Amino acid sequence: KDKPASSQLLQGRKVIVTAGGTVERLDPVRYITNDSSGKMGFAIARVARQMGADVRIIAGNTTAAPPEGMAVEQVGSAQDMYEAVMRHWEDCNMLVMAAAVADYRPKEAVPTKLKKQGDTLQLELVKTVDILESLGQRKKQQFLVGFAAETEQLDRYAREKLERKNCDLLVANDVTMEGAGFGTDTNAVHIYDRNGLVEQLPVMSKDEVARRLLAIAAARMDKA
Ligand code: CTP
Ligand code: CA
Repeated sequence: KDKPASSQLLQGRKVIVTAGGTVERLDPVRYITNDSSGKMGFAIARVARQMGADVRIIAGNTTAAPPEGMAVEQVGSAQDMYEAVMRHWEDCNMLVMAAAVADYRPKEAVPTKLKKQGDTLQLELVKTVDILESLGQRKKQQFLVGFAAETEQLDRYAREKLERKNCDLLVANDVTMEGAGFGTDTNAVHIYDRNGLVEQLPVMSKDEVARRLLAIAAARMDKA
């Protein structure tokens, strides 16, 4: 049998990509979110499709334009994103968690707009579900790719996260670096596996980061 052309490395693979920031409601008009633009996740989705994959995008709050001609399943909270991923998890071959999932949410989302009262307001926040960690515990054929944005101790935190969440690859970027992180068109990432650093990439377009990442992932999936 012929080997697939290198451009079709993900032919026949079902890939879920999450993108953007989750939205955690406080009341009907207020919420907590973050600066994630969705660009990195959208780039991965676009490139995965170019590589032949059957791609499902699950996105929270984004400011970037989604890849042309691709459907986006829109979600709000971390819990919503978790449920959406779960619906497509069973027969999926790869999950890329590029979304910036909120770590905490308001303890209760009140149904009516909060009224102004005293001089201070205490908000109680509770932990959200860790989507990646929870799926890491139950993965079978699924190849798991996590992301981490760090401002310090990149290597240590990246490796800890990869272990804790049982990822096959973890993509870490130092968001204090020029040309890396939220909202930019470029990124500079370190890619880790269980044994440590796999590749340290210089600043490049997010599309190029996606191509390099997915080439590594595709090669490793084939061994499984
Ligand atoms: N993630 C997730 N669910 C969460 C939080 C994070 O699935 N509730 C995923 C992210 O999508 C990312 C990876 O876990 O792929 C790492 O996210 P990160 O925020 O860096 O890790 P945390 O475990 O939340 O640790 P911290 O924020 O303290 O650095
Ligand atoms: Ca976090």
